[in-house]
Amino acid sequence: MSTPADRLTPDQLRTLFLFEALDDGQLDWLAAHGRVEQRAGGTVVYGEGEAATCFFVLLRGTVSLQRQVRGDDVEVSRTDQRGVYGGATQAYLDGQVEQVYRNTMRAVTDADFFVLPAENFAYALRTWFPMAMHLLEGLFFGMRDSQAIVGERERLLALGSLSAGLTHELNNPAAAAVRAAAVLGERVAGMRHKLALIADGRLDGRALHLLVELQEEAAARVATAPKLSPMAAADAEDAVTDWLEEHEVSGAWDLAPTLVAGGLDADWLARVQPAVGRADLASAVRWLTYTVDTELLLREIGDAVTRVSKLVGAAKQYSQLDRAPFQVVDVHDLLDATLVMFKAKIPAEVRLVREYDHQLPPIPAYAAELNQVWTNLIDNALGAMGDRGVLTVRTSRADDHLVVEVADTGPGIPAEIRPRIFEPFFTTKPVGAGTGLGLDISYRIVVHKHHGDIRVESAPGATVFRVLLPLTAGPAVGATPASPAELPGR
Ligand SMILES: Nc1ncnc2c1ncn2[C@@H]1O[C@H](COP(=O)(O)OP(=O)(O)OP(=O)(O)O)[C@@H](O)[C@H]1O
Ligand SMILES: [Mg+2]
Repeated sequence: MSTPADRLTPDQLRTLFLFEALDDGQLDWLAAHGRVEQRAGGTVVYGEGEAATCFFVLLRGTVSLQRQVRGDDVEVSRTDQRGVYGGATQAYLDGQVEQVYRNTMRAVTDADFFVLPAENFAYALRTWFPMAMHLLEGLFFGMRDSQAIVGERERLLALGSLSAGLTHELNNPAAAAVRAAAVLGERVAGMRHKLALIADGRLDGRALHLLVELQEEAAARVATAPKLSPMAAADAEDAVTDWLEEHEVSGAWDLAPTLVAGGLDADWLARVQPAVGRADLASAVRWLTYTVDTELLLREIGDAVTRVSKLVGAAKQYSQLDRAPFQVVDVHDLLDATLVMFKAKIPAEVRLVREYDHQLPPIPAYAAELNQVWTNLIDNALGAMGDRGVLTVRTSRADDHLVVEVADTGPGIPAEIRPRIFEPFFTTKPVGAGTGLGLDISYRIVVHKHHGDIRVESAPGATVFRVLLPLTAGPAVGATPASPAELPGR
């Protein structure tokens, strides 16, 4: 019996490693359903993303497999090994995953293939190897789930530090503003009350005018009041208390700290009596104290709210919400924003040293992702040092790279684990404390996304993680910058 030119005999099929263990019946079936096809060198055998209709086994020639990475074709392998296969390899998952080609196969030279329609390939696998099918399915979905978890963890890592650090940092100024606003309400009510007393008709227009002038002056002094040391403040308060008591103003101990904080001293107070007369001195001083108090409270609220808005600014810078993912950034802004997030997590006896080279130009980067890198490196450094040490964040330039170093004075990385620290899930932290993904994620962001490098040097008391980032975008950084003009040196 002769075999048509586009068919293989069962014996020929048996020489392909994929099919070598099949029985005669199975080989007959394959021989009947598959056919031989030729492709000219330089042509596409199948394209990534197209509907996956065939399973290909290489019989002769050289092929190259390529995958699209951010708009670029990247060759993942090239081979002339007879029997290698590609194409609809996931046909057995028909109905469970979208049936498209996962990569592109090109014929580098003229090539021959044994081609099996996807549905035949799926049928053969399912009916001949039911147990292997279950295993494969398990493996496939297991991998996909764990990848999803890893992706989720990447986001959580950044988010966790962000929210923990930020809520802590926001809490203080927000609480201060709320407290100051409440006290301010009381003071304003007190002032209304005092005004009624002062304006009871006992003060003539001229005295009232002088009092208002003094009030303006008091308010202005608050703005320029020097910050006294606790000792100097105590002395000044004593002097003011003495003056108030001498002039029979009650509650001197209560008024003095406010007056001193507002920059008012006994000499200044001495100007009040001539203005309003002895009978109204106490009321006038109290009124002026309220003025100082409201000014101080307003400043406190202003400072607290400014702090809140700065923190929100840092959080926005950190998360890069509402910013383009790929843009030209000053890494110092990113480092500072990340350090703000860490402020609450840096122990009192860990000193933070920033050595920034501000001459460095902005660089094209995935800013939010770089913040994840800093987060992971700083988190590791702090974790290594524990309660005390020095955390140094340094920037510099090395040829056409910008260098960011995160250094700590912790115990260092033992030589025997050094080769493994960038592996996913490698951790020396207790179960539940670390995922071992920090450095893996950082490596992928720096090396794969930015075409940079990440290196480590470690000795007891001196560990440095060094991140190198290209100063200009390399050809394989696929994303488009916000505007081409933003990319210097391209
Ligand atoms: N600065 C450092 N000093 C000493 N050892 C370090 C330092 N940075 C990393 N390591 C070692 O490398 C390991 C892997 O770090 P990686 O950041 O990948 O994971 P992790 O910190 O253990 O976990 P996670 O980042 O999820 O909290 C750490 O467990 C630690 O043993
Ligand atoms: Mg870590």
